Amino acid sequence: MKLSTSHLLSVASLPVFAFAHADNHHHHRQILAASSSSSKSGALSPSSAPSSSTTLSSFPPSFSLHSQNPTAVPLSSIVVNAPSAPTSIMPTPATAGTKPSGIPNAPGLPDLSTLLPGNYPALDKPPPTDSPQVQQWIQEVQQSGVEIPSFSPNVAGGCPANPAAVADSSRCWWTCGGCSRSSDITTCPQKFTWGLTYDDGPAPYTPDLLNYLDQVNLKSTFFVVGSRAISFPGLLQQEYLKGHQIAVHTWSHPSLTTLSNEEIIAELGWSKKIIKDVLGVVPTMMRPPFGDIDDRVRAICKAMNLIPVLWTRISPTATFDTDDFNIHGGVTSVQQVLYNWENILGNVSTINTGFIVLEHDLFQQSVEVATGYILPDALAHQPQFNIQPVVNCLNLQAGDAYVETNDNSTNPLPLSCTYTYSFLLFVFRFHNLTSQPLQPLQPILPIQHMSLAVAAQERPRIVPFLGLLRTRVSLPSSPPCSAFWRSLSRRCP
Ligand SMILES: *[C@@H]1O[C@H](CO)[C@@H](O)[C@H](O)[C@H]1NC(C)=O
Ligand SMILES: *[C@@H]1O[C@H](CO)[C@@H](O)[C@H](O)[C@H]1NC(C)=O
Ligand SMILES: *[C@@H]1O[C@H](CO)[C@@H](O)[C@H](O)[C@H]1NC(C)=O
Ligand SMILES: [Zn+2]
Repeated sequence: MKLSTSHLLSVASLPVFAFAHADNHHHHRQILAASSSSSKSGALSPSSAPSSSTTLSSFPPSFSLHSQNPTAVPLSSIVVNAPSAPTSIMPTPATAGTKPSGIPNAPGLPDLSTLLPGNYPALDKPPPTDSPQVQQWIQEVQQSGVEIPSFSPNVAGGCPANPAAVADSSRCWWTCGGCSRSSDITTCPQKFTWGLTYDDGPAPYTPDLLNYLDQVNLKSTFFVVGSRAISFPGLLQQEYLKGHQIAVHTWSHPSLTTLSNEEIIAELGWSKKIIKDVLGVVPTMMRPPFGDIDDRVRAICKAMNLIPVLWTRISPTATFDTDDFNIHGGVTSVQQVLYNWENILGNVSTINTGFIVLEHDLFQQSVEVATGYILPDALAHQPQFNIQPVVNCLNLQAGDAYVETNDNSTNPLPLSCTYTYSFLLFVFRFHNLTSQPLQPLQPILPIQHMSLAVAAQERPRIVPFLGLLRTRVSLPSSPPCSAFWRSLSRRCP
């Protein structure tokens, strides 16, 4: 089917952030190109010498794939300004009430006939922060008990434009130097396990990717942009119903560290909301656009119950980024992308964990290189890869990808772990108001800085104190109180 006018419109609105992507990724591309050594030999002859055609300075760089799709689009056609290939039929919304087969306790899909684009922010623009909706999310973040670091937003321009932020290691800015926290997911634990991800869709060529994934029986994680989700809601439902994992990738795809707290909340909030309105569930995972995350962004993610998922990094300057996004804009070639992929594969066999790679389903060229070359090559890899959505590669259940279906006892979500602190603060404030002596409470106040194991040790002192309190007031039995008790025995991120 030909692109309809509405498809053309939403694709036409993309170049702004395509350009931002190009800027951001250019640096990685140069690093990869500059460090090129001879290409690796194919799997058919793993111990043989590198392919004969290889020279260090050749451009485009050479590579040798284990396998490719017999129906792959020729490399010579995967170029900037390639004529648009006809798109597959865009799925229409599913019947309300339909459930994904892989998640037993999933709610039914909402009725999309009531979904009105006019009720959402403008496409591909940062949502305003003064709307009642965003104001409510801001209040929820403030009341979450998560402390948000007060450092000021970065300016546009990445690492060179923000030397002070780069130098301040307490910010733990992943983009510049690769600092990550234990709450970030950057890899899959088991060696040769690939947490497959595609970003920035759903988009006109996503159906081709879904068809191929069906053919080879693979499931992926899709980090979806809210502005695309409202443009292609039937397609988003299709991804979900087919058993792929859906996760948050903001509303308009900005660099989150450059935004104010309120703007970050608006980006994440609207993206969660459109996914909830289309699928009936709210994702538990997110990927910051460009991987742009620091401790301020992390804290807001936590306050909004989102787990950050980045991609695998093997050095301060090299990440598992194919740069597939940049073929469309003419910043990189398909040969360079496949050369990057070969480098990634080379590194995959040297690390002790599995891996996550940055790839995209926004543009025709990225989908063509994925379905024609990268995925067939990965499927032919020896030893075999275990290719799964991120949630599964972490040994969680498919349902743990969403708040409503998450198994809260085995997989506590980020926010549940803050109940400990917010509940104690509540108790302390109350206690203070009733003018009781503070002695019984004081020893447990620094609990926000304790590990939960230590907090559990404090339990014998907490319990009598709460007993005393209970004689004077009736404490709410639902969260945060019940979550507080459960969290004492939990391991939290
Ligand atoms: C790992 O990747 C780097 C570039 O990021 C490359 O220079 C190196 O050759 C790769 N390692 C292997 C074993 O392929
Ligand atoms: C887990 O907790 C959330 C609220 O935080 C709730 O909506 C969800 O239903 C719970 N999961 C299950 C399986 O009950
Ligand atoms: C405890 O009460 C005092 C006096 O009423 C007040 O100044 C203080 O802020 C209170 N502390 C907390 C943590 O609420
Ligand atoms: Zn992206």
